[in-house]
Amino acid sequence: MNPQQKELIKATIPILRASGEDLTNYFYARMFKHHPELRNMFNMGNQANGRQKSALANAVLAYAENIEDPSVLIGVLKGIGTKHRSLNIQPEQYKIVGTHLIDSIGEVFGEAATLPILEAWTVAFYELADIMINLEKGLYEENVAKPGSWNGWRKFVIKKIVEESAEIKSFYLYPEDGKQIADFHPGQFISVQVFVTELNLLQPRQYSLSSTFNPEYYRISVKKESGIAPNPNGWVSNTMHSKSEGDVISISSPAGLFHLEKDSENPLVLISGGVGLTPMLSMLETNLNSIQNKKTIWIHGCRNESVHAFKDQISALKEEANHLETFTFYDAVTPENVISNEVIQGRVDLHKCKDSILLEEARYYICGPEMFIKTQYEALINLNVSQENIFYEEFGPQLINLN
Ligand SMILES: Cc1cc2nc3c(=O)[nH]c(=O)nc-3n(C[C@H](O)[C@H](O)[C@H](O)COP(=O)(O)OP(=O)(O)OC[C@H]3O[C@@H](n4cnc5c(N)ncnc54)[C@H](O)[C@@H]3O)c2cc1C
Ligand code: HEM
Repeated sequence: MNPQQKELIKATIPILRASGEDLTNYFYARMFKHHPELRNMFNMGNQANGRQKSALANAVLAYAENIEDPSVLIGVLKGIGTKHRSLNIQPEQYKIVGTHLIDSIGEVFGEAATLPILEAWTVAFYELADIMINLEKGLYEENVAKPGSWNGWRKFVIKKIVEESAEIKSFYLYPEDGKQIADFHPGQFISVQVFVTELNLLQPRQYSLSSTFNPEYYRISVKKESGIAPNPNGWVSNTMHSKSEGDVISISSPAGLFHLEKDSENPLVLISGGVGLTPMLSMLETNLNSIQNKKTIWIHGCRNESVHAFKDQISALKEEANHLETFTFYDAVTPENVISNEVIQGRVDLHKCKDSILLEEARYYICGPEMFIKTQYEALINLNVSQENIFYEEFGPQLINLN
């Protein structure tokens, strides 16, 4: 891209800041009209609740803002590429996205999108597409080289379903072909693909692996999402909750950048809200099985005891391992909770456990809803924890940018 074209891209920053989401909203509608088959590949829940259009608008704006040196975005692009790899996005699909994005810029921004601006955005888009395609090529190659791994979708049989709380069920997934499965880092996720009858579409979603690696199966634990009227109930989580043992679903191989560092001996502080406890369980179990046995503190918050999944298993692990300390916060407590003195009433407040969590060299992992992550992140910063020791995962398109 030449310097004049870079200036033209920069000139579009104000309009992208003001109307980026109008652009991406229009873009998705346009692309799905011309390519209805892509509705099977995208998360139609994130389309309806607007989270994906925000994620794409943020990415387009960040690219324009860093057009002089896009290499500073490599961390963000790795996160997007990892999600793309787990959804089996292919190089030839960049042409489809490019065509509809550039045409949308012209149609949404009207006269502001002059021919030179459209030409500059075309060059800029395909330069970004090249970076992403190469990055993803590397991810696909690295992934398929791992023993037991695979690219794309593979069929797994749900051999066991366990109710973990009033709204969370675990699914034990065994490969239908009976062959080896790939190891993973605790904290990583898989994408699941199921047919949603009401939408008449295949739909993918991500679910964190909720146990330590077992060569026989993967375990995921899914919360049944109830929509708040007038929004519908969650499509895939409800489809999963209606599954029976013996049913078959497709999954992609483990992926994700939110995971424990291999062989690290640093103490661990796990902070989870609601179903955000799933990657923490995998981290905890893996740590217990490892020789390092890092000091681990787990702070968990949820609405009340009835939705506190894995409560008994965690208590049992605590008995077994003296290096594990836990703090549980319930929004609503019962008299029994108060008597047992095991829970703290209210939302997670890290200041209440600061004497236990401020450990030298500790690594802090946060997972939960967007507001939960922001609150805990700010609390850690207030407690003088350094940014580079804090890691977090959103259970949706990555919209938070704290580090
Ligand atoms: C890396 C990662 C790991 C994850 N791990 C887990 C896990 O371990 N366990 C787990 O349970 N989940 C996990 N998730 C979340 C999971 O992927 C799904 O997002 C979740 O199950 C909801 O999917 P759904 O299809 O049931 O809901 P969707 O149908 O996608 O709906 C999502 C929400 O949007 C709302 N909505 C729908 N239409 C509208 C509308 N028009 N306007 C406004 N809102 C609307 C719905 O009511 C619902 O609340 C993870 C996500 C990621 C990205
Ligand atoms: C340069 C081009 C592209 C950019 C900048 C881009 C950007 C993004 C971003 C920011 C996300 C959200 C990541 C997250 O979950 O955190 C995402 C997810 C996704 N992208 Fe792309 N993408 C590009 C190309 C493509 C292409 C070519 C396809 C295939 C048609 C594609 C399909 C998807 C899908 C299916 C998701 C998941 C959506 C969801 O879960 O709602 N993307 N992309």
